[in-house]
Amino acid sequence: MKTVAITGVLGYSGRYIAAAAARRGWRVIGLTNSGGRLPNPGGYELRPLPWSTGQDVLAGVDVLVNTYWVRFSYTPGKGAAHEPFSHAQAVQNTLRLFAAAQRSGVGRVVHISITQPDAASELSYFRGKSELEAALQSTGLPHSILRPAILFGDTPDESILINNMAWSLRHLPAVATFGRGNYGLQPIHVQDFAELAMDEAESQSAHRIINAVGAETYTFRELWQQLARSMRLWRPIVPVPAELGYQATRVLGALMGDIMLTRQEIAGLSQSRLAVAGTTVGTRRLSQWMQQHAEALGRRYANELSRRA
Ligand SMILES: NC(=O)c1ccc[n+]([C@@H]2O[C@H](COP(=O)([O-])OP(=O)(O)OC[C@H]3O[C@@H](n4cnc5c(N)ncnc54)[C@H](OP(=O)(O)O)[C@@H]3O)[C@@H](O)[C@H]2O)c1
Repeated sequence: MKTVAITGVLGYSGRYIAAAAARRGWRVIGLTNSGGRLPNPGGYELRPLPWSTGQDVLAGVDVLVNTYWVRFSYTPGKGAAHEPFSHAQAVQNTLRLFAAAQRSGVGRVVHISITQPDAASELSYFRGKSELEAALQSTGLPHSILRPAILFGDTPDESILINNMAWSLRHLPAVATFGRGNYGLQPIHVQDFAELAMDEAESQSAHRIINAVGAETYTFRELWQQLARSMRLWRPIVPVPAELGYQATRVLGALMGDIMLTRQEIAGLSQSRLAVAGTTVGTRRLSQWMQQHAEALGRRYANELSRRA
């Protein structure tokens, strides 16, 4: 029986990848800092992440699947319940993970990146992801790099962006695009993504880079329109300057005790970094998913920060 170690095994995509691995007969080891904080319904063996321990946590591992990353950089105010986190720290931690994989003789790495990583970007998300892709390539370890744009999941509130757009449609008299809203997004269902990750875990190729994008492409404006149509709600969709839109999400986020979107995320969206030309790999369609989940979507706000508390 082959062994896969998965970072973020109790998180979003990591949970689905672990389930796909178990279905295929793999032994799953979870590398996580969330043991005891998050449920482990799969009953996976859990080990700490290599940057939190001196143990050889990758001993006996055939394939490492890395989902670890942080959505944005965050410095909590005094007395806040959360630890600080940042893209720069996530890059350093991931470099230590790759070094641990080399030391332990892991046979293959499946690393999750982002569409259009970019060493020259002013956005630390896309720059950090580019740095990590290059670092993984330079290890010489056989690897696959998967570049998703945005994931949607089995339950609405797993899909933070789409759920919170639905929540905004339910609670606000009008919604907005940052600028004209003509930039693209290519969401992939997390089950399609998990199967792809395990196909790559089982691949024999030396190195591959795959744009892990779904069957449908939307502009941001079209996503609002399709979501509102699925939910049978009518709301004006107003183009506003990106900074004004950001300030609105900042107020809403503060009211919900969260960070709804960051300036960098809005810039990444507006630069059309979440869409790519070429082949798509996901088959499940967001349009059908939005119809199936229309009743439940946006009933509750999906809070990023509370997932880390
Ligand atoms: N979700 C999307 O729509 C999307 C879109 C494009 C690309 N991606 C990429 O896909 C990968 C997986 O995404 P995901 O949504 O499945 O990730 P996730 O579950 O939110 O995070 C994966 C793991 O990273 C660790 N982590 C996340 N935020 C953290 C924080 N603030 N501080 C410390 N550790 C943190 C957690 O590990 P522990 O549980 O061990 O603490 C978590 O389980 C990432 O590389 C992401 O960049 C995701």
